[in-house]
Amino acid sequence: MTRDAPLPEHSRDTLVDKYGRRITYLRLSITDRCDFRCTYCMAEEMTFLPRSEVLSLEECLRVATAFVGLGISKLRITGGEPLVRKDVMWLIERLGALPGLDNLVLTTNGSQLERFAAPLKAAGIRRLNVSLDTLRPDRFRSITRIGDVAKVLRGIEAARAAGFRRTKLNAVMMRGINDDEFADLVQYAADHELDVSFIEEMPLGDIPGRGNTFISSEETRQRLAERFPLVASTESSGGPARYWRVPGTETRVGFISPHSHNFCDTCNRVRITARGELYPCLGQNDAIQLLPVLRTHPDEAEPLRQAIIGSLGIKPFGHDFSHQMEAPQVVRFMSMTGG
Ligand code: 5AD
Ligand code: SF4
Repeated sequence: MTRDAPLPEHSRDTLVDKYGRRITYLRLSITDRCDFRCTYCMAEEMTFLPRSEVLSLEECLRVATAFVGLGISKLRITGGEPLVRKDVMWLIERLGALPGLDNLVLTTNGSQLERFAAPLKAAGIRRLNVSLDTLRPDRFRSITRIGDVAKVLRGIEAARAAGFRRTKLNAVMMRGINDDEFADLVQYAADHELDVSFIEEMPLGDIPGRGNTFISSEETRQRLAERFPLVASTESSGGPARYWRVPGTETRVGFISPHSHNFCDTCNRVRITARGELYPCLGQNDAIQLLPVLRTHPDEAEPLRQAIIGSLGIKPFGHDFSHQMEAPQVVRFMSMTGG
């Protein structure tokens, strides 16, 4: 390494939280709105945030730019449903052009994908996650309350035609609702060169009538193993998923198990909600409000940068004394066990 060469702006600092974990992955929600009303996610009648309380697209870009300047290399755009946000391509095109942001990805319900697949690819989105809990039209309609599965499947096809590879399906596992279809979803993924992850349902939000539909990843994996000879894979995204392979295909089957796995010691991510709350950790209730910082200092980057650094209990340090990075501490987190 040449010490004297000027560093690009984006590698000047690194985000390391107070437990020694390097933060490289930001999940940014750009809207709380959605054109579906999935039963596990939303109530039938939803009140969404007023526009003024949501980050503008310009503010989203400022936040992303600040994080990339602090060494974030992966950014996932989420929602709600990100593709229902007006002028969403304005933001995505600019994110796609940010130097240092190597891995720009998007999570979508697929409803608008037919229309957006080609522009998303052209703007530099590297990979898509598409939520798909069932392949059956009647079931899809009842889980999403509104959605048309045929349209989503056409969206998945459009993504492939636009050049996306290894699009990942996300299926929430629900006993008595879609648990007889897990093998069909894996088969669909294998037939279409997709990956699929099964997600344990989380009791998020106060949703009336939420039934007792929980199924563990382990039970699903055992049931799938009766039909597919799944082979364990060592791959990790630094997140809560464990991966298996379907032999004879490229398809990876993931299990996202927030209930049964403690993955905190390798966590590399932070989240920002549509109203600009920075959640350093899901297992922690405290959020840092970025919106007031953005609006108090509309033309300055430094206050935002300091707010982010401060929020993570961070010690920013230069690239040329990296001993702290080379010896990350492994810490056990009490917040996950209620401490
Ligand atoms: N439990 C598990 N997964 C959920 N999702 C939304 N709400 C829940 C919940 N309560 C999933 C969506 C999507 C992903 C982004 O999160 O289905 O696939
Ligand atoms: Fe929630 Fe996603 Fe369903 Fe929309 S598509 S209601 S954001 S789970």
